[in-house]
Amino acid sequence: MSKGLFITFEGIDGCGKSTQLNLLKEEFTKQGIEFIEVREPGGTRVGEKIRTILLDRKNDSMTRMAELLLFEAARAQITEEVIIPALEKGVNVICDRFYDSTTAYQGYANKMGRDLTDFLNLKATNETYPDITLLLDIDPETACRRRSERGEADRIEALGLAYQEAVREGYLELAKSEERIKVLDADRTPEAIYEEIHNLIWDLIS
Ligand code: TYD
Repeated sequence: MSKGLFITFEGIDGCGKSTQLNLLKEEFTKQGIEFIEVREPGGTRVGEKIRTILLDRKNDSMTRMAELLLFEAARAQITEEVIIPALEKGVNVICDRFYDSTTAYQGYANKMGRDLTDFLNLKATNETYPDITLLLDIDPETACRRRSERGEADRIEALGLAYQEAVREGYLELAKSEERIKVLDADRTPEAIYEEIHNLIWDLIS
């Protein structure tokens, strides 16, 4: 049996990931393509508890290292408990963020360094790599406008525009060396962006 396709969505806060992820889910459902959807941090009992700690604005004293290790802990749990078993059963996995988020947010923006984040990412995922990563690239001001329509910012969103700019640069730097990461201009209509996503995914499926 062939393994499932592992698809990840990435981008700064407010980049429009959820809309695109929903469009892909709708199309998979319509076409009878089997998939599961997961999100990071979270997606498991243990992971959702870690998520609450990570995003709680009251936890503003959290150190950068504690934050990094909590993201990796949630990732280790979901990879072993959910992602690997699904892929091995031939089920496609659509993941809202995966380890590239850690590279961009903790590695680049928080300056924890690629050596450390690469090492922890490998350990936490047992070397489970996405087949394709859809990076929705947008300037932080546009993203911030979109995001503010969604309500109060969580602890990480509250770090502001300069932080989101550093995250964006981290993603773009990372994309230069990773063939699987497809950089998509997210400052377009949802339909135009989705058309590109559809073409990329169907190239892999067929
Ligand atoms: P979430 O509400 O899921 O954000 P979004 O809808 O934008 O995906 O919150 C996740 C937050 O955690 C988001 O600000 C990105 C951040 N994050 C990291 O800093 N490192 C990571 O490894 C992951 C997975 C997320």
